[in-house]
Amino acid sequence: MTTRMTAVTDRVAVVTGAASGIGAATARHLIDHGASVVLVARRVDHLVDLANRLGPRALAAPADVTDPDAVAGLVDVAAALGTVDILVNNAGLMSANPLVDKREDEWRRMVEVNLTGTLNMTGAFLPQLLTAAASGRPADIVNVSSTGADYSMPGFAVYGATKAAISYLSAALRTELAARTLRVTDLKPGGVHTELASHTSNPPIREQLATAHERMRLLDPDDVADAIVYAITRPAHVCVSQLSVLPVDQAR
Ligand SMILES: NC(=O)c1ccc[n+]([C@@H]2O[C@H](COP(=O)([O-])OP(=O)(O)OC[C@H]3O[C@@H](n4cnc5c(N)ncnc54)[C@H](OP(=O)(O)O)[C@@H]3O)[C@@H](O)[C@H]2O)c1
Repeated sequence: MTTRMTAVTDRVAVVTGAASGIGAATARHLIDHGASVVLVARRVDHLVDLANRLGPRALAAPADVTDPDAVAGLVDVAAALGTVDILVNNAGLMSANPLVDKREDEWRRMVEVNLTGTLNMTGAFLPQLLTAAASGRPADIVNVSSTGADYSMPGFAVYGATKAAISYLSAALRTELAARTLRVTDLKPGGVHTELASHTSNPPIREQLATAHERMRLLDPDDVADAIVYAITRPAHVCVSQLSVLPVDQAR
């Protein structure tokens, strides 16, 4: 059987949240497939360490995606690798608490990182993505949403709302930009074994999340990275508009 995978050699990706978890795995997979990758997150040591391991096609670019000036600076930094034609909006934060606890600080931060951060990055890199698309090359945005966009769980209202907003944004962007051949993928992972749960301050929910891997076989970050690579390596006329990737134990 012939493969219909298109090469990512010579493509330039920006991956946010590359300091850990899904973002770090995605960066590794993209490098393995021949792309150049700009690694974005706040923890400089993690990014530099990953870039050193991935080699000269990886560039550590520390930035907070909620800071518009820092994001604007990323455009100049990324230029060292070429025109960006893949943007993976993956940086995210999950702080679960019941709504009645009124943790406005957590609400604000999740909206800023998950939604505003994605908007900042999209706005900054859209011109390059559209330039790539206009020149006949594939151009992709992958927005990492969550199954939490579709299913509510006690304590996860604001996190789920930000992810529902990301899924809506993906659909809206696709509608606006499909005529200009920019592909947008709304990626919804189920439970993945990463640091994400560690930011939850509520002790019972934190405990429940920390032991999730004892109740079910969670996904590895590599499983999600595989799905991202699948989406962006389809032939240029194919858009993987939505993709859910669940642990089998969560798919019953
Ligand atoms: N794990 C799951 O079960 C699961 C399920 C569905 C969806 N997701 C989504 O997958 C994405 C990745 O999460 P993960 O599971 O891989 O967790 P993770 O390991 O905690 O990754 C989150 C990444 O985002 C970065 N980040 C956080 N705030 C940032 C900011 N203001 N600016 C730049 N980077 C920032 C973090 O690095 P720094 O702290 O160094 O900035 C970190 O590398 C998130 O959007 C999450 O909502 C995860």
